[in-house]
Amino acid sequence: MKKGCLSAALDELKNMPDKKRVFIVTDNFLYHNGYTKAVTDKLDEMGMTHSIFFDVEPDPTLASANEGARRMTSFKPDIIIALGGGSAMDAAKIMWVLYEHPEADFMDMAMRFIDIRKRIYDFPKLGEKTYFIAVPTTAGTGSEVTPFAVITDESTGIKYPLADYELMPDMAIVDADLMMNAPKGLTAASGIDAVSHALEAKVSVLATDYTDSLATGALKMLFDYLPSAYENGEKDPTAREKTANGATMAGMAFANAFLGVCHSMAHKLGSFHHIPHGIANALLLNEVIRFNAVSIPTRMGTFSQYKYPKAIEQYAEAADALGLGGNTDNEKVELLIAAINTLKSKLDIKNSIKDYGVDEKVFLEKLDDMTEQAFDDQCTGGNPRYPLMEEIKKIYLNAYYGTEGKYEF
Ligand SMILES: NC(=O)c1ccc[n+]([C@@H]2O[C@H](COP(=O)([O-])OP(=O)(O)OC[C@H]3O[C@@H](n4cnc5c(N)ncnc54)[C@H](O)[C@@H]3O)[C@@H](O)[C@H]2O)c1
Ligand SMILES: [Fe+2]
Repeated sequence: MKKGCLSAALDELKNMPDKKRVFIVTDNFLYHNGYTKAVTDKLDEMGMTHSIFFDVEPDPTLASANEGARRMTSFKPDIIIALGGGSAMDAAKIMWVLYEHPEADFMDMAMRFIDIRKRIYDFPKLGEKTYFIAVPTTAGTGSEVTPFAVITDESTGIKYPLADYELMPDMAIVDADLMMNAPKGLTAASGIDAVSHALEAKVSVLATDYTDSLATGALKMLFDYLPSAYENGEKDPTAREKTANGATMAGMAFANAFLGVCHSMAHKLGSFHHIPHGIANALLLNEVIRFNAVSIPTRMGTFSQYKYPKAIEQYAEAADALGLGGNTDNEKVELLIAAINTLKSKLDIKNSIKDYGVDEKVFLEKLDDMTEQAFDDQCTGGNPRYPLMEEIKKIYLNAYYGTEGKYEF
């Protein structure tokens, strides 16, 4: 990681003399705007053969991953370079699995489980054919350092987060030069996604001292620098670089601590109503904090790293890391919610799902299905309070109308 490091980082491939064929996965926009050129120029200089797949769409589908895997099968790469935002990196991860293990069944891999480290289903072993390099061009998803890939099954429209440490990239190159010209809307959406990763990791049932320091460190950097990265773009390269590092640190936190019900709900809100992933999180984040920060939450029964639920205390620690003041933990939670609201308004993020043009009738019609799928999402297991479907529905409704819920018993 360092602004301008891409070329120097790719030099490391010289240490792997048996690796010569590089398959680059990216999206249409990035390909046609020259983002892959820095990579291919370097590969040419090193005498490596390459091929580019640039048909990844935002919120990628299984169909496009299948297509990429077919192309890989004929090209036979020994290195994959995923260059782009979460969409390109996640699609490339799925292609990687399908290329190395054509026999693997997607529904088996998408199967839910309680603990990633004790699964009944053995995820196929990756890396035997190919080395995987992730190069993010957005400061957001952290996919470059996470064992997750979010993919939509186009036949059902369901968005699945796959999770297994096999999906960890071998190498991540975080070069803020690739993010300098990101448009404001993308900077806001991907940046607030990273903020929500850090916050959900901070209060996850799997949080540890290690993930806590990454999560609070990331939060502080994102709160300090994201507004200027948004406002000033390439004119503030320091803000761009700090935001990039903050997003990757948040990724490292949730790669180990996982997320929570905000992401479960954002995945389904995104797939049902086509709201960008980061914005979907932003619309739910404060309601989820109110839901989690209650004195006697229903405990998440499995694999908690603590004896008693302590989300209020953990949010208060996040508020302290941000230097927000406050005397009691409850006051600090309120100050944290206020600070998130201020950050959202600096990023011109609207107040409610309704404000993003989702029709009320359509929203209400789909609410039960969306609620059930959100409850079932793999991220729910990390949440510090066990949610009832009825409560998920209430959070959705409050986020839709921009009203504030009460979730104490
Ligand atoms: N794997 C994970 O751990 C994880 C975590 C969170 C989200 N996600 C997933 O990631 C996806 C969202 O990823 P994202 O927010 O990075 O956006 P994205 O990859 O969907 O990209 C959005 C748009 O921005 C463009 N873009 C990307 N970089 C750019 C740049 N530097 N300059 C200009 N335009 C650029 C892309 O071409 C695309 O049109 C969602 O599908 C989400 O579910 C994955
Ligand atoms: Fe996310």
